[in-house]
Amino acid sequence: MTVPAMPVLTAESLSVTHGDGPPVLRDIGFAIAPGERVGLVGPNGAGKTTLLLTLTGVLRARAGSVRLGGRTLAPGTFTPEVALVFQHAHDQLFCPTVAEDVAFGARNLGLTGAALDRAVAEALDRVGLAALADRPVHHLSGGEQRLACLAGVLVMAPRVLLLDEPSGALDLRNRRRLIELLQGMEQAMLVASHDLELVLELCPRVLLIDGGGIVADGAAASVLGDAGLMAAHGQEVPHSLTWHRGERHRHRATGTVAVAAGTDVARA
Ligand SMILES: Nc1ncnc2c1ncn2[C@@H]1O[C@H](COP(=O)(O)OP(=O)(O)OP(=O)(O)O)[C@@H](O)[C@H]1O
Ligand SMILES: [Mg+2]
Repeated sequence: MTVPAMPVLTAESLSVTHGDGPPVLRDIGFAIAPGERVGLVGPNGAGKTTLLLTLTGVLRARAGSVRLGGRTLAPGTFTPEVALVFQHAHDQLFCPTVAEDVAFGARNLGLTGAALDRAVAEALDRVGLAALADRPVHHLSGGEQRLACLAGVLVMAPRVLLLDEPSGALDLRNRRRLIELLQGMEQAMLVASHDLELVLELCPRVLLIDGGGIVADGAAASVLGDAGLMAAHGQEVPHSLTWHRGERHRHRATGTVAVAAGTDVARA
């Protein structure tokens, strides 16, 4: 009998409120296995960013807890093993140059001298920003800023990566680079995104949140391909999960090919 691996990240009955407002998240619970990639989808304002900020300890939950392996994380404590790439790059980048910003997290982990320089150079190379190491962060384009944020997180080699709209502002080449980079990583990740095609390619499992709770948690193709469920929560079935008259479709994630003859329908 195989014993299931202990989850690397567990959210237990999390309820989160901003200030004195009503709860944004209520009784949220899920677990992510080591190496598992999970998509987090839901309409604007559903609480995706709020959830990611709570998982990293930036926000303090009103109730519930977050565990990394068997360890309960204390809110407000820097936990480099759970690293967040912020939705807005300007919330994350604050050092004068790209290299210094990327170095910040690694220095916090105790890296110095040549080892620090190597780690920074490698992280920048992985995201394709090696040539911009000495550029002031405010002189980067929006897409370059997002990649710099990712490098700043990769340099800490976290156990869990939390990505908030990672493909926002990226051109197609950099979006593809990002997808391939993330596919090649062994870390568990939770990816909040409105780019549902990216979610389909990267994440075998999806959490759909709305109205403060998890309304679906299951295989990406069955959650995102459920037209009724998606419409009920302000979403659309992604293009690659629909059939188009007379068109051949090969879905990149599953490799399946379909030829449709009828009107467009969501693939079951
Ligand atoms: N600092 C704050 N103070 C008060 N309310 C906030 C704060 N931050 C977010 N909210 C509210 O909490 C709710 C959830 O916001 P959140 O940013 O988590 O949504 P989201 O799912 O990430 O949305 P989006 O898809 O637009 O990124 C929204 O109603 C938002 O207005
Ligand atoms: Mg958000």
